[in-house]
Amino acid sequence: MKALILNGSPRRGGGTAAVSRRFAASLQKGLGPSASVEVLDLVDLHIEACLGCRLCFDRGEDACPRDDDLAWLSQAILGSDILVLASPVYVDSMSGLMKTTLDRLAWLCHRPGLGGRLGFVLTTTGSADSGRTRASLVQALRYWGVRTLGSHCVLAGARLSPEGLERAGTGLDRAALRLARAALGGLGLRPSLLALLVFQVQRQAWLRETEPSLDLAWWTSRGLLQKGRAWLSPEARVAFPSLALARWAASLIALVMWGPRRARRGPRRGA
Ligand SMILES: Cc1cc2nc3c(=O)[nH]c(=O)nc-3n(C[C@H](O)[C@H](O)[C@H](O)COP(=O)(O)O)c2cc1C
Repeated sequence: MKALILNGSPRRGGGTAAVSRRFAASLQKGLGPSASVEVLDLVDLHIEACLGCRLCFDRGEDACPRDDDLAWLSQAILGSDILVLASPVYVDSMSGLMKTTLDRLAWLCHRPGLGGRLGFVLTTTGSADSGRTRASLVQALRYWGVRTLGSHCVLAGARLSPEGLERAGTGLDRAALRLARAALGGLGLRPSLLALLVFQVQRQAWLRETEPSLDLAWWTSRGLLQKGRAWLSPEARVAFPSLALARWAASLIALVMWGPRRARRGPRRGA
């Protein structure tokens, strides 16, 4: 089992770095010695801003004109079973470093290759809780197909002191152990009702797509558009009533948004 914690703080050795490491230590304890738990400080990587050229969407992530550490980071992310996003709150949002990284990984929202993985979100703030920041980070993981167990915010002030970290420790330990238990119990393969619904709506959209594209080929080649497909991962354990409800609701949403299948007015364009 591999867990990767991405620390998106540009301040080396700051509060988010400390919180990430405390969380990592508890996660390691919960998962056992055979697991690999790693904290990656994004500030130590070379990650340039997205150019908005859409080549990752249209021709594949390898076609990105940026020559930096993103390709390496993508492989590390795809090779993980557990993903944790950690960010300080900057002007009521995530750090620019974390946002830049997520923008560069936007192709994962079109081709959600992380179905079956488990996730968690950590934030640190100066004075206020960060509901909006946490929600954005949870949503990014959800777009990638990650089942996110929740989020935890640490009130750090201007600089998190060792006493502050100790006070926050119990909550962090509890969250990390819950994540470890869920991972060992295979929760990543049991998508939530919301995840099922999102997947079924996406499926309906791709089933209506008329223009060939890399994204459509990705969805088709993985059997995601085959009749009866329940979720991103073929090994997913999905309860029939939830699946039936998600399918019914997705069909209704798709009908309202795009009309009946094969009768769409024009090709649907991605985000
Ligand atoms: C540029 C900047 C913007 C910030 N904006 C906010 C904010 O909107 N709300 C808040 O509560 N704290 C804010 N803070 C405080 C940080 O979120 C807080 O100190 C955090 O723990 C810093 O993490 P670090 O030690 O990893 O850098 C801001 C800090 C900086 C440097």
